[in-house]
Amino acid sequence: MNSVKWLIRILLVFYLSHFSFPADTISLHHFIQDNNHQVIVSSGNTFALGFFSPGSSRNRYVGIWYHQIPDKTVVWVANRDNPIKDTSGILRIDGRGNLALFHKNQTLPVWSTNISTAGTRNSVAQILDTGNLVLVQNDTREAVLWQSFDHPTDTWLSFMKIGFNLRTGLNQVYSSWKSPDDPGVGNYSLKMTQGVSPQMVLYKGSNPLWRSGTWTGKRWSGIPQMTQNFLFRDSFVNTDDELSFSSDAKNASLITRWVTKETGVTQRMIWNNEAQSWIINAVPTEQCDFYGYCGPNSYCNPYLGDFECTCFPGFDPNHPKHGT
Ligand SMILES: *[C@@H]1O[C@H](CO)[C@@H](O)[C@H](O)[C@H]1NC(C)=O
Ligand SMILES: *[C@@H]1O[C@H](CO)[C@@H](O)[C@H](O)[C@H]1NC(C)=O
Ligand SMILES: *[C@@H]1O[C@H](CO)[C@@H](O)[C@H](O)[C@H]1NC(C)=O
Ligand SMILES: *[C@@H]1O[C@H](CO)[C@@H](O)[C@H](O)[C@H]1NC(C)=O
Ligand SMILES: *[C@@H]1O[C@H](CO)[C@@H](O)[C@H](O)[C@H]1NC(C)=O
Repeated sequence: MNSVKWLIRILLVFYLSHFSFPADTISLHHFIQDNNHQVIVSSGNTFALGFFSPGSSRNRYVGIWYHQIPDKTVVWVANRDNPIKDTSGILRIDGRGNLALFHKNQTLPVWSTNISTAGTRNSVAQILDTGNLVLVQNDTREAVLWQSFDHPTDTWLSFMKIGFNLRTGLNQVYSSWKSPDDPGVGNYSLKMTQGVSPQMVLYKGSNPLWRSGTWTGKRWSGIPQMTQNFLFRDSFVNTDDELSFSSDAKNASLITRWVTKETGVTQRMIWNNEAQSWIINAVPTEQCDFYGYCGPNSYCNPYLGDFECTCFPGFDPNHPKHGT
């Protein structure tokens, strides 16, 4: 009899410790530890947040990945330039109400949402089905104190933006990993440029490699693929408060991401569930897309057979014909 009681007691403790708190939330009392392989999962099971090691590395990072896609596909990394070398990491709400990543040997956090949170100690971090990690005040759940969508790494998801919040100074930039083994800030970045004709530019360091062309009202002039846009709702905002672009899947069940890669391309991918693989649509796709390929006084026409630079009247081409 006694052993049955004990068993029930143990099961109850197990049940309470594992299932009694919302599995999508980290709070002052419910943190996640790398040692215990703990993760939080968004309410619709779309995204998970936890500790991972990229590629063949043994370093530990906190990241967000698709919960239902077999190969762990990471869409955001917290401590991208500050790996933890062992599995003693703890992600919790600290005494100031920030979400912070600690290592057992250190009192200062390895990473933190690091906002001033005077009087907001009652905060919780929640992973949403969009892939956004939000820090909110538990009582109201309304005002977002911090969100991962404002601090992108290499992956642009639906409902994220590229560009500037001109009131707060926030600039949303997508920068490549260093390598598949190292999510640290790499050499390639996709940014919005300010000025008379804003556009998206892919840089290697400070050198532009590709540009989107200007906004025509419906699409970027340099991305003709955008004309048949059945899948995405594109929106370009250019006001006193904001200069941004977003491209959201019209159907929320479409799994899609736009990644700026360490190989020097920026590519949108769509998950094909039947094939269990990503369909890739990358730029620069063609020679024509490389910044300056044709020189400033000509234009590139990919439909002439080979990529061909056609000069504006009175100019000679830089590269008369590709491959000849
Ligand atoms: C958050 O609010 C809920 C509902 O009011 C409450 O049950 C819970 O204990 C709170 N959690 C924290 C960490 O304050
Ligand atoms: C943490 O501290 C322990 C004991 O002081 C030490 O043995 C270990 O190497 C330290 N780990 C790291 C990653 O610094
Ligand atoms: C938090 O912000 C302060 C001031 O900007 C900075 O000095 C500090 O390094 C940051 N800490 C973390 C953990 O990011
Ligand atoms: C970034 O570019 C510099 C200069 O070309 C190069 O030395 C460095 O190895 C590159 N870094 C990565 C992570 O590829
Ligand atoms: C969205 O996509 C799902 C899965 O492909 C499909 O079943 C559903 O009908 C689509 N919804 C709309 C409104 O197109």
